[in-house]
Amino acid sequence: MLVDGQGNILNTVTREYPLILPRPGWSEQDPAEWWGACISGIVELLAGHDASQVAGIGCAGQMHGLVALDENNQVLRPAILWNDGRTAEETRWLNEEIGRKNLTRYTANIAFAGFTAPKLLWMKKHEPQSFSRIAKIMLPKDYINYKLTGVHTCDYSDAAGMLLLDVEHKCWSKEMLALCDLNDSQMPALHESYDVIGTVMPEVAKTLGIPEHVKVVAGAGDNAAAAVGTGTVRDGSCNISLGTSGTIFISSDRFGVDPVNGLHSFAHANGKYHLMGCMLSAASCNKWFCDEILKTRDYAAEQVPITEDKLGHNHVFFLPYLMGERSPINDTDARGTFIGMTMDTAREDMIQAVLEGVAFAIRDSFEIARSLGIEIRSSCICGGGARSPLWRKILANTLNIRLEIPKTEEGPGYGGAMLAMVGCAEYRSVEECADALLSVTDTCDPDPELAARYEVQYQKYRKIYPALKGIFPDLA
Ligand code: XUL
Repeated sequence: MLVDGQGNILNTVTREYPLILPRPGWSEQDPAEWWGACISGIVELLAGHDASQVAGIGCAGQMHGLVALDENNQVLRPAILWNDGRTAEETRWLNEEIGRKNLTRYTANIAFAGFTAPKLLWMKKHEPQSFSRIAKIMLPKDYINYKLTGVHTCDYSDAAGMLLLDVEHKCWSKEMLALCDLNDSQMPALHESYDVIGTVMPEVAKTLGIPEHVKVVAGAGDNAAAAVGTGTVRDGSCNISLGTSGTIFISSDRFGVDPVNGLHSFAHANGKYHLMGCMLSAASCNKWFCDEILKTRDYAAEQVPITEDKLGHNHVFFLPYLMGERSPINDTDARGTFIGMTMDTAREDMIQAVLEGVAFAIRDSFEIARSLGIEIRSSCICGGGARSPLWRKILANTLNIRLEIPKTEEGPGYGGAMLAMVGCAEYRSVEECADALLSVTDTCDPDPELAARYEVQYQKYRKIYPALKGIFPDLA
């Protein structure tokens, strides 16, 4: 995304990169694909613009993914991604043998299969030779920052998701490094997201056609960056992302831990903290159902037959656990499930069930926030799924809160640009930048009658996973 100093979006370019799925529930990508996409994407982004005016770059990236480099800075294996479920055994060992209490004391969090520490333990056990050659570990956007600048860094918001950071004190946890057989020299240098980590290396600047003095900031995990990009930077404010994953992100000025560890306790990209719940398959459920099952890319057309009178009356329910699930159930064996079909069930009922199942699963994390006494009356919403007015309506009524649609739904990219602006001293703080640039362009309010119907539906939905939980391990 190309953004000027006044926050105007001058251009946007999108690239996809292939997902490697070596086994059900496993998920990898080749970091070379990310870098190749960056190079060609940035060149296209700048075409027709005065590239000599580029001042700063800020990256936002998928969290938790393990990128392991050898002593020559070569990638040792494909990156193991945030939604990879191979580490059930390591996650269990951490939570049960090391213990949730100790993990929370070391890092403010317990282990989830997607986090980076369990991936390292898996690699140590299953790929000991590669593990012994690790010279540096980093997260996906840090690999891009490394390729741009030649320095190994990580920001606090992304580092928090590794289960290796002492989130409260913002330093690597000695206990966790020891448990994972890591030393300090293998860890990237820690920074605030808006800190300048370096400038673009001469040969990269030449390839991209930009000046060598372009500053690169540490950037952020996609959810913290999305929170910046939607203006979710004040104490208690909330952002929901309906992207590949689905997240609920609550910004906080103070460090705090969810006593039941249902929500992650992470650092924010504004220098403060946040609580977050993350479901692994959100907009990706709709993409999967349309692309792979219905064989259509016209998602909007599929939603046309779901008329107002059908909302809150569906007999079909869907559990969105296509990659297992993280928040709040922490179950790598859980699987996607349709239930409740009859002979009169139509195509649109199934689509509706998918949209509703995702909304109900987000409500599961929302309920944890409520149980902690956090009252959320409204939330920003971003991510590809947020483009659907129908999905927004279902979500607003399922959660019974107002949804606010910000100026750009591409929260992470815009947040990355805002962090670069702060790094380039265009604004003094992330908050000042958000106040200057962001506005709400539309809202979606719940309707009391519809919200009541969705309350009944949600209570039915809640019974499905506990009833099936025992069966899922046998299906694997
Ligand atoms: C957050 C998470 C996902 C990824 C998606 O904890 O795992 O939102 O960051 O890119």
